[in-house]
Amino acid sequence: MPHTLLIRDAADNPDSIRIAAKFLAAGELVVFPTETVYGLGADATNPDAVRRIFEAKGRPADNPLIVHVPDVESVKRVAAHVPPEALELFRHFSPGPLTVVLERSPSILPEVSAGLSTVAVRIPRHPVALELIRLAGVPVAAPSANLSGKPSPTTFAMAVHAMDGRVAAILDGGDCDMGLESTVVRATGEGFVILRPGLVTAEMIAEATGAKVSYAVHPAETAASPGTRHPHYRPRAKVVITSADELTSIIEGFAGSKVGVLCLAASRENLPAGGNVFVETFEDARHYARRLYAAFADMDAWGAEVVVAQSVEESGAGVALMNRLRRAAEK
Ligand code: TXA
Ligand code: MG
Repeated sequence: MPHTLLIRDAADNPDSIRIAAKFLAAGELVVFPTETVYGLGADATNPDAVRRIFEAKGRPADNPLIVHVPDVESVKRVAAHVPPEALELFRHFSPGPLTVVLERSPSILPEVSAGLSTVAVRIPRHPVALELIRLAGVPVAAPSANLSGKPSPTTFAMAVHAMDGRVAAILDGGDCDMGLESTVVRATGEGFVILRPGLVTAEMIAEATGAKVSYAVHPAETAASPGTRHPHYRPRAKVVITSADELTSIIEGFAGSKVGVLCLAASRENLPAGGNVFVETFEDARHYARRLYAAFADMDAWGAEVVVAQSVEESGAGVALMNRLRRAAEK
């Protein structure tokens, strides 16, 4: 098992980011914070490094990776062609939690994209991520830094738990601000198609660009972009989704089991708690999204057998949140 360098408070420690960037340029794996979730990075132009990403995660080879670059100029080096409407998206939402699918340049290995002719590109805005990628001087392929199928790490502790001993270094950038993975979008020439909903919402894209925005698969359904057919976002506990009205009866139905409950603060009153029931509350959908995966980790650490999760209205952050909850609850 390789020794992993754990780098606390990387933002205050520029030398450590330089060291991690050298690891990346030398073909090693580095876990780094982004504003969405922690990523497991490697040089997207180095076949051994890319292979090691799939190994470290236990990820199926048919699930393509996102390539991270520091600026729009660099997007042009990893894509064969960047249509004007894609540039417009980058202009509005990057750096930030948005990924755009483009034609792949020959400089990016086919295995990064699971053999597809396209490449998914993102400019993250977390300062540690940006600095790392800029200093590495190579495009950085990075899936979320979880073992395949598990929830993405959104805290340094979760990233260490998932990847210690599997990578050269893990950079601490604090808790992730968004908490859910980036929105994945494709320009069709007649508008945009969302392949994975995120916190850059369909409404935000439509408003910024004036273009038509649709979903590849309605967010209430599952199995959209490649790789989404594999199990995802699942804690060890079984996940059950329920409306606010039915929270109490569903929790009571699991009497005798250790039940974790995720709900909005407004629904907290009168819920059973204590003993076999552990409740975590959120102020609103944004807060619920930000803390969802960390809450799953808390529930697993406590030994929950079931997690009962309150559903939220499917608008704004609620669209991506409900998409991840449904995936987590899939049999
Ligand atoms: O927020 C995020 O996007 C994080 C951080 C680290 O940037 N990354 C992330 O990567 O979530 P990952 O590998 O866990 O998810 C990548 C998603 C998958 O759903 C994959 O199918 C889709 O992006 N994807 C990647 N390349 C694609 C392509 N060429 N065409 C369509 N979908 C693609
Ligand atoms: Mg992932």
